[in-house]
Amino acid sequence: MVDPNFRGRRLRGSPAIRRLVRETAVSPRRLVLPLFIGPGSGRRDPVPSMPGVFRTSVDEVARDVAEAEAAGLGGVILFGIPEGKDAEGSEAWTEDGVVQRALRVLRPEVSELALITDVCLCAYTSHGQCGIIEHGRVANEPTVERLARIAVSHAAAGADIVAPSDMMDGRVRAVREALDRSGFPETPIMSYAVKYASAFYGPFRDAADSAPGSGDRKGYQMDPANAEEALREAEADLAEGADIILVKPAQGYLDIVRRVKERTGAPVAAYQVSGEYSAVMAAIKQGWLDEGAMREMIVSIRRAGADIIITYWAREFARWAG
Ligand code: PBG
Repeated sequence: MVDPNFRGRRLRGSPAIRRLVRETAVSPRRLVLPLFIGPGSGRRDPVPSMPGVFRTSVDEVARDVAEAEAAGLGGVILFGIPEGKDAEGSEAWTEDGVVQRALRVLRPEVSELALITDVCLCAYTSHGQCGIIEHGRVANEPTVERLARIAVSHAAAGADIVAPSDMMDGRVRAVREALDRSGFPETPIMSYAVKYASAFYGPFRDAADSAPGSGDRKGYQMDPANAEEALREAEADLAEGADIILVKPAQGYLDIVRRVKERTGAPVAAYQVSGEYSAVMAAIKQGWLDEGAMREMIVSIRRAGADIIITYWAREFARWAG
């Protein structure tokens, strides 16, 4: 029964009162900024489908990370675009790969924020799939073995957290065992445990040059129609040794963020992906929406229960929130 005298508007009557009763605040320390690192030097190439996002060379990335740290962000997540690709994606784990080199440059520079790395093969393989192809299919076991190698190479170069994003089975256990064996038992795994086969990754695939040459990723990424399966994926990854569970995309999947959080109690990250970002940026450019739309999306992701939010808009949000 609702109190007949209930007057909800009393608590909305002035900015001071609204501020006092506001339930959700997003501290900049919860935000993680994705950065794309490519070959060459002196490069800062705009990504056409992602206004405000650049692909930089290793020598340029320190500037972005310094800015992220100054803005009080919690972390950056690094994506590499290699010099050359092959069927195996072998540049993903070489010591002089773009991400490994960037980590060695950045490691001594940063103190506060976390250096996170995306662990996947899709930007490194000539066919653009997230794994090794055998008999026309992405083969699970050979892929997992490569992923473990990539994760170790990132930890060795100075990553604080590794984030496998491939959706192969058993890869969290394999990455955990490889890290432990190689002297990195303290390096946490942020698992993209719940990654949907989403149409919202389009602009990212431009940025990372990682669109599959043919076919799609529905053989390993999840069906957007499924929620119970998301809970099983999250629990399986935790059992294998994941420390943080990531849900991706964010906006259409806030129910999943909430359910994973409630079910597991583990730290949950949500990734506001390229398509979510670009759609709103395009509307802002047109004058159809204003920046409040992006702020609202980010606050909503936190309200749904995400502890960590990966967003291309992290610096802008931090500037506003700070
Ligand atoms: C790599 C990966 C993808 C994203 C993050 N890691 C893309 C994909 O599966 O194609 C998407 C991020 C975004 O869209 O912003 N496997």
